[in-house]
Amino acid sequence: MVLIDERELPRVPYQGMNMVHERELKILNRLYAALEEGQEESVIDELLDEFLRDVEEHFSYEEDLMRKSHFFAYECHHGEHNRVREELRAVKERWQKNRDIKELKDYFEKVFKPWISEHILTMDTVTAQWIARIMGGIGVL
Ligand SMILES: [Fe+2]
Ligand SMILES: [Fe+2]
Repeated sequence: MVLIDERELPRVPYQGMNMVHERELKILNRLYAALEEGQEESVIDELLDEFLRDVEEHFSYEEDLMRKSHFFAYECHHGEHNRVREELRAVKERWQKNRDIKELKDYFEKVFKPWISEHILTMDTVTAQWIARIMGGIGVL
């Protein structure tokens, strides 16, 4: 079972962001599969770290685009990324303390999955529209 099917992932009008989201989805689904299979803790540790590194790259990439394009709602979007950075730090700490696969799986199913779709449909979409307009829909900032 995958956590999020690729076809369910909302698309935004800036291709670079879609590519970053697709990459993250693949890593997230691999992590989720390992949780479902009840893989060893060391395997989950590695996949969780890979996912957390990818989230940081994803958020930093968008923040860089927003700064370069002088996005009007930078503070709002950046603030939401920071909130999730903190949340994920706490999730990792809980996992290291409790080693509870169900708790970690529940977080991805009940919190992260609905969050990422909602975030892409709202803040990421508005950001992508702004960037696409500035870029004339082509090229790389
Ligand atoms: Fe995003
Ligand atoms: Fe975002």
